[in-house]
Amino acid sequence: MNTEIIAVVNQKGGVGKTTTCANLGIGLAQAGKEVLLVDCDPQASLSISLGIRQPDRLPFTLPDAMAQVLMDDQPGAEERKMDHHLVSHPEGIDLMPSDIRLSAMEVSLVNAMSRETVLRQYLQRFKGQYSHILLDCPPTLGMLTINALAAADRVIIPVQAEYLPAKGLEQLLQTVNKVRRQINPNLKIDGILMTMVDNRTNFARETAVLLRDTYGAKIKVFSTEIPHSVRAKEISAKGKSIFAHDPNGKVAEAYQNLTQEVMQLEKKRYIVRTDISR
Ligand SMILES: Nc1ncnc2c1ncn2[C@@H]1O[C@H](COP(=O)(O)OP(=O)(O)O)[C@@H](O)[C@H]1O
Ligand SMILES: [Mg+2]
Repeated sequence: MNTEIIAVVNQKGGVGKTTTCANLGIGLAQAGKEVLLVDCDPQASLSISLGIRQPDRLPFTLPDAMAQVLMDDQPGAEERKMDHHLVSHPEGIDLMPSDIRLSAMEVSLVNAMSRETVLRQYLQRFKGQYSHILLDCPPTLGMLTINALAAADRVIIPVQAEYLPAKGLEQLLQTVNKVRRQINPNLKIDGILMTMVDNRTNFARETAVLLRDTYGAKIKVFSTEIPHSVRAKEISAKGKSIFAHDPNGKVAEAYQNLTQEVMQLEKKRYIVRTDISR
């Protein structure tokens, strides 16, 4: 099984990264994919929104996994044991949770050898076990986000429709380019995803036009837009996806469309790749 690792990245908080990670992940699982979600944020919003009330009480979370990689980079029996620490969610995905100790781990990475690739080394063991691994990034361009970009094949950038991202996006793209140049030459940007789109205002449309004008030649803007809805806001307290919480709502429909778009991108790329190899 080929494993696609997708990082959901934006250094701005509150743009819909975590919501997209959870619902795209569960959307892919519903489409028959094998999905692992990895919570790379010390705030652990993804873990909490998937029903883990107190991540800091878990015996083993991402900082422990990364610490093991740092202590011993030989793949062996000990490391395989870590699979048992994944949490299975009733909607058909697995999760490697995070907790606040991940922030101390980030600090200790600064002095570590191969500090940018610790996450990539950890995820190595899941290659072939999952078709998709989604990485929920923290709202910074720090070492954890760099680790996610170094581990990923592809990047999705959620952008909140009402706020023009101008400078922030430029900085993010520079970071992606730098990681591509120095660590991960195959990293691709899948696209910019407009989130929390309020159809009652013109902001969203104006932002979309501006984004397409500025970056359209270089970066895809997903044709799916995620609408703003209180139903979407409710799910993080429920521990379930929008598909379980409000299956007939517009946000569920949007995340289903996004899932299709993401899978189509893969197919297209696969065809291009096989064409080239002939
Ligand atoms: N489509 C949406 N409509 C309304 N609220 C949303 C939507 N998507 C996310 N939210 C809410 O917006 C806030 C930020 O979303 P979140 O996914 O946590 O962003 P990030 O991970 O980028 O910080 C959360 O309170 C979340 O419940
Ligand atoms: Mg988040």
